[in-house]
Amino acid sequence: MPETATQNWTKISHLKEHIGDEVTLKGWLYNKRSKGKIAFLQVRDGSGLVQAVAVKSELPEASWEAAESLTQESSCIVKGLVRADERAPSGVELTVTSVEAVDIPKEEYPISLKEHGTDFLMSHRHLWIRSRRPQAILKIRSTIEAAMHEFFEKREFLRFDTPILTPAAAEGTTTLFETDYFGDSAYLAQTGQLYLEAGAMAFGNVYCFGPTFRAEKSKTRRHLMEFWMVEAEMAYYDLWQSIQLQEDFVKHVVSRVLEKNREDLAVLERDISVLEKTVAEGFPRITYDEAVERLRAAGSDIQWGEDFGGDDEDILANQFETPFFVTHYPTEIKAFYMQPDPNRPEVVLCADMLAPEGYGEIIGGSQRIEDYDLFVERMKQHDLAPEAYDWYLDLRKFGSVPHSGFGLGIERAIRWICKLDHIRETIPFPRLLTRIYP
Ligand code: 4AD
Ligand code: MG
Repeated sequence: MPETATQNWTKISHLKEHIGDEVTLKGWLYNKRSKGKIAFLQVRDGSGLVQAVAVKSELPEASWEAAESLTQESSCIVKGLVRADERAPSGVELTVTSVEAVDIPKEEYPISLKEHGTDFLMSHRHLWIRSRRPQAILKIRSTIEAAMHEFFEKREFLRFDTPILTPAAAEGTTTLFETDYFGDSAYLAQTGQLYLEAGAMAFGNVYCFGPTFRAEKSKTRRHLMEFWMVEAEMAYYDLWQSIQLQEDFVKHVVSRVLEKNREDLAVLERDISVLEKTVAEGFPRITYDEAVERLRAAGSDIQWGEDFGGDDEDILANQFETPFFVTHYPTEIKAFYMQPDPNRPEVVLCADMLAPEGYGEIIGGSQRIEDYDLFVERMKQHDLAPEAYDWYLDLRKFGSVPHSGFGLGIERAIRWICKLDHIRETIPFPRLLTRIYP
């Protein structure tokens, strides 16, 4: 970020451009070591971490006293001369010329640099996000979000914001969050898809990005109650065109992370060879039938027609080195809006993208039913009252066309890209089955 008139101090991430200059930093004390008349202050400002060396004999008395008073997470303004230092992780060090304490914590900062239990850290999430690991993850998240918009912008997709309060279910009735809407029931959106389809018929290619909600009563490492989904819907695209777009999309996002977040990936000790392969190689495509064969060969007792359990996804996802697609799932286990394969109606024209290394599904997508009568029939099979979807059925009445779309759960993608054990670390404030605080 360029320094501007609105921010007339220097970001730590830009110190390398200021070697030999005197700069002002505004931040917080991350850690401090004192050796008698020298204090080594580690200062963070969200953009980076730098060591600032304060020497008593070279400082005004008030500055030395301020330096001595700083405790972990004291806010402070530090001025100093920037020196190149090859041994420092940031490549620079600061020789302090003045220190001002802005605010000294009222009590000892609860998160020390030693190990803490997960539950303790999750309860202090509002402070934990100041630590290096969450910062690395959330910076990668921000890159992914920016890259996503950049991709769709370049491909001339219109951003089309879909509602969060909705009158009916879109992804099954078992995971709805219900709320009162002036005496009627409303539901928090599980997906923006149905509205996005209206957008596709109006604008051709559209996408949305927003929070989605699912009351998943399962406690797993991959489910959040509130997660963010980027969804795209394309008029006149068949399944295969949509699959190609998804592959290009994920490659673009991963390549941006490789470009912008090397240091963050290093903090997470992420082996980046898998990410490099993802950018360089084509993503394999297998059918559900083949996936079942692979699973049975690997010892699973899955039967044709059953959905994959978490363990099945893990087994499959361990057999690949880049993301891959599984297509043509049984019609019975997939959503009501998916287009049955005309040659084989017991399967649908759908594809999930699974991440390698045991991470499992990150994208769900399909070609949509375009025929009005077939749609009404499918809705009845799913016990969905067509009246509630009148507007959606209109899309099949007035100039219906083949169309396809997909949704990427960004926390799932982050969990894989960062190779995290649990999805709770991928979002600033996770909503989990047993946690809504802070
Ligand atoms: O596969 P899903 O249910 O697909 C849809 O919602 C479609 N309407 C998308 C579309 O075609 N426009 O969900 C899409 C993705 C999943 O692949 C997964 O990455 C993520 O959303 N997801 C979750 N992420 C975190 N926590 C949960 N509880 C999730 N449920 C789904
Ligand atoms: Mg899915």
